[in-house]
Amino acid sequence: MKICAFISLSGGQGKTTAAFFTALLLAQQGKRVLAIDADPQANLTFYLGQEVEENEPSLMEVLTGVVTTEDGIYATQYPNLFVIPADRSLFKVSDFLASSGTGAFILKLRLKAVADLFDYVIIDVQPSRSQICLTALGAADLALIPVESNTKGVNSLIDTLKFVGEQTNLAAFTGSILGVIPFRDRWVGNTQTVDSRENIAAMAELFPDLTIFPSIKESEQFKKGIRQGKTLTELGHEQLEYPFTKLMEVLTRD
Ligand SMILES: Nc1ncnc2c1ncn2[C@@H]1O[C@H](COP(=O)(O)OP(=O)(O)OP(=O)(O)O)[C@@H](O)[C@H]1O
Ligand SMILES: [Mg+2]
Repeated sequence: MKICAFISLSGGQGKTTAAFFTALLLAQQGKRVLAIDADPQANLTFYLGQEVEENEPSLMEVLTGVVTTEDGIYATQYPNLFVIPADRSLFKVSDFLASSGTGAFILKLRLKAVADLFDYVIIDVQPSRSQICLTALGAADLALIPVESNTKGVNSLIDTLKFVGEQTNLAAFTGSILGVIPFRDRWVGNTQTVDSRENIAAMAELFPDLTIFPSIKESEQFKKGIRQGKTLTELGHEQLEYPFTKLMEVLTRD
């Protein structure tokens, strides 16, 4: 079971979008996929068509051990794709994680119980230096960093790498960084905008050892895909799926 966390410390960097399509495409390839919504905003939960009632278990109850991991898992409308959902109450888990003293390792521990049931775990991580973020990163074998193709994205990348580096030094993150996914790369016709080009180039220049995946282009089709629960290829925009095709190649390599 490969555990992949989509993480970046600023909002709106494409984490949920990238996590959603990655989970969908892996499941379409016949992989058994568990998506985990580790963000109290609960966007991934919503995108996957789930709604958690107050008395139903979510990631909160899985982390605190109120239910078993299996009892927090729900089937989605997609074959092979399951989810541990979030709701707003996930905010409250911070105190539990902080007071446990080993908060960074709790999700990893909970996932051991379902290691034989899934091929991939895809975690959508809250964009802050929170306990939820710590436990999500702590569980991950692979970290993927989506960032906008602008100055805010470059700064988000710098902050996120600093955070991941700190967690690595503390042995709280023992996985590796798979790469950066530039998000909302703007093109006008066949020409990439100067802003997008220069900012993606700046990322490569600042961090020459990092893999920079092909970018997710600025396009309404991604939102449409999320709304309709369809991949870009199913919407007739196979070329927009290219960053995910590349990512699939790397994720399914061995
Ligand atoms: N290819 C795209 N081009 C333009 N906008 C997009 C594209 N894909 C998604 N969006 C929109 O960009 C916004 C940010 O994307 P997303 O929610 O994936 O980021 P995020 O990092 O998860 O944000 P947050 O930190 O708030 O959780 C969303 O409103 C989404 O609908
Ligand atoms: Mg999100």
